[in-house]
Amino acid sequence: MNIGIIGAGNIGAALAMHFGKLNHTVKIANSRGPSTLGEVARKTGAHPVDILEAGKDIDLVVITIPMKAIGALPQKLWEQLPQQIPIIDTCNYYPLRDGKIKEIEDGMIESEWVSGQVGRPVIKVFNSIMTESLIRKGLPRSAKNRVALPVAGDDRVAKQTVLELVDAMGFDAVDAGTLSQSWRQQPGTPAYCSDPNKAELQALLGRADRNKAPVNRDLGARILAKIPVDFPREDLVRFSRLFAGMDIFKLQNYLAAFHVGLAISLTNLKRLLVTEPHSTN
Ligand SMILES: NC(=O)c1ccc[n+]([C@@H]2O[C@H](COP(=O)([O-])OP(=O)(O)OC[C@H]3O[C@@H](n4cnc5c(N)ncnc54)[C@H](OP(=O)(O)O)[C@@H]3O)[C@@H](O)[C@H]2O)c1
Repeated sequence: MNIGIIGAGNIGAALAMHFGKLNHTVKIANSRGPSTLGEVARKTGAHPVDILEAGKDIDLVVITIPMKAIGALPQKLWEQLPQQIPIIDTCNYYPLRDGKIKEIEDGMIESEWVSGQVGRPVIKVFNSIMTESLIRKGLPRSAKNRVALPVAGDDRVAKQTVLELVDAMGFDAVDAGTLSQSWRQQPGTPAYCSDPNKAELQALLGRADRNKAPVNRDLGARILAKIPVDFPREDLVRFSRLFAGMDIFKLQNYLAAFHVGLAISLTNLKRLLVTEPHSTN
């Protein structure tokens, strides 16, 4: 396929790498223009382009930018795109990062909001896996315990294309229903960042609690803000699995939770030492 990716950060670059390995031709864009994308191009083989070009002559487009930036994308991008082209939405709403979006605060499902912004149906996928897992955990179809990813959307044909793409990338693709069901894979739900296998994912999607998700999401964001950027992501996955009620007899997961707690305490301590003025008395 010819694929356009809007957003060249963690997820945009990871997807470009996967698509390149599958011999798809990838165009990638950010907000600052192609001249700033040399490094991503070198690492992934994707062609840096401007935003409008990323939506031209393609078979599939991915939006992978902060939620708050979606409304700023040029409408012409969507007007020029033929109706049948699948649009993947990887985006997550974090009000502590994105600021508040009233419709979502009032209960609108995140990808339905995205769909409204771009004026087209979208397929939600790749939002529930951390970059490191996306880069490293793809496995051949024959492997046991492949990580499974939920794929939600209303357009049956577009969703089938995306299910096949996810499978080719090395992940079990689980049809997670319509876009109206996609809250089950939003931040703060048990399926989020816990790298489940297929059976686990199906159970976790069923156990999602819509009322608890925003509280869990904000708690997760506060935890992430307090741990160092180089904190091992696998420990975060283990912590998420424990939080989701999985592997409760695995010592490693409790050690990971302890590691997270320790990192938060050290950050708090450092902040205290740096911000508390020394007494001169
Ligand atoms: N990181 C994860 O593990 C993860 C996992 C799943 C889903 N997600 C979600 O996926 C999305 C992308 O995440 P990320 O971690 O890849 O973000 P990121 O590393 O911060 O990268 C964001 C990218 O979006 C581009 N961008 C920002 N505003 C733009 C605009 N108006 N037009 C075009 N491009 C724009 C940025 O380009 P400039 O530098 O030019 O602004 C940058 O290339 C987010 O919604 C995030 O919540 C993240």
